Amino acid sequence: MALRNIVKEGDEILRKECRIIDPVTDRTRTMLDDMLETMRESAGVGIAAPQVGVMRRAFIIEPEPGEVTEFINPVVLESSGSQICTEGCLSVPGRFGEVERPEYVKVKALDRNGEEFEIELSGFPAVVFSHENDHLSGVLFIDKAVNLRDESEIEEEEME
Ligand code: CO
Repeated sequence: MALRNIVKEGDEILRKECRIIDPVTDRTRTMLDDMLETMRESAGVGIAAPQVGVMRRAFIIEPEPGEVTEFINPVVLESSGSQICTEGCLSVPGRFGEVERPEYVKVKALDRNGEEFEIELSGFPAVVFSHENDHLSGVLFIDKAVNLRDESEIEEEEME
């Protein structure tokens, strides 16, 4: 595995529609391995392929330590409810804001062996999924967030 550079906001790569992965290959698997290492290095809970400069439809979520799910070519089959969560993004370092997301999603995707699976997510895992899935369409959380603020403002609030 190897660390990859994280693409930051302002780079056009983050604003493009990503392409389907077909077929899933060793190269895909190496990319996923590198993405996981890169995400953990930065203490993230999710990372999408465009964030490491690859314009393909794949991402990883790890909403709880060790609970890793990889998604290739994900499709949302159902979603319902809503929840508001404070989000950040490895590509938008130091900034946070509240985003409304579905409470529940049902998704189909391919795993790293190219096998289709379905998964239901609710609560925080659904937030992380939805955030990463947006990356595949060139959407960042800052496009949807309210009360967007940077880290220094939060620290000041906590000190008051
Ligand atoms: Co992000």
